[in-house]
Amino acid sequence: MLIKSAVFKISAPDLKHCPKSTLPEFAFIGRSNVGKSSLINMLTNKKGLAKTSSTPGKTKLINFFTMDDSWNLVDLPGYGYAKVAKIDKKEFNKAVIDYLQKRDNLTCVFVLIDCRREPQPMDIEFVNWIGNSGIPFVLVFTKTDKISPNQLKNNIEVFMDKLKESWEELPKYFSTSVSTKAGKEDLLNFIEKLIVK
Ligand code: GTP
Ligand code: MG
Repeated sequence: MLIKSAVFKISAPDLKHCPKSTLPEFAFIGRSNVGKSSLINMLTNKKGLAKTSSTPGKTKLINFFTMDDSWNLVDLPGYGYAKVAKIDKKEFNKAVIDYLQKRDNLTCVFVLIDCRREPQPMDIEFVNWIGNSGIPFVLVFTKTDKISPNQLKNNIEVFMDKLKESWEELPKYFSTSVSTKAGKEDLLNFIEKLIVK
């Protein structure tokens, strides 16, 4: 699938400010700096569409982008950014959790995991939470250009083994790199199947 037009719509601080929409919607979540905004730019071929930064905590609002007038991508603020004041952190978590639990047109959530790192408690906690909430999601291991294919395979195995401690059925997963564009076609094909249903 090729995206012909990718348009920024609005940034919302919370669910009640999110734009009304019945279009299928796909949201990107994960630790700060894992590459959520970069991945949106890769998928849309638009470098500056979602704002990226090497400093964690760049995305602070719920950002909506509409593709070809027919489906939405949503860039969410990251979790686990320690420098954000506690009270703010609470507010953000609440807004994001509200969005994830109550957004009617949410079709699938992409939970991004940095492929270089051993399973982080916060990621495992989040995956367990989203799984228990019954929100449809898949995993995306990001920044695959930073390690060898063997290391990648091994790290994914370790992560999945960790999930096996709590889950019988494991989530679907992808691996991506914005540098090599690995995973781009896979992700777009996956989305395409869900939007034509
Ligand atoms: P927050 O909005 O702060 O939560 O971060 P984010 O998850 O949106 O991350 P962002 O897309 O801003 O990327 C963070 C940093 O990682 C930037 O410096 C990106 O250039 C870099 N980055 C993202 N994806 C990749 C990748 O696939 N490979 C490499 N090498 N760097 C990446
Ligand atoms: Mg971001």
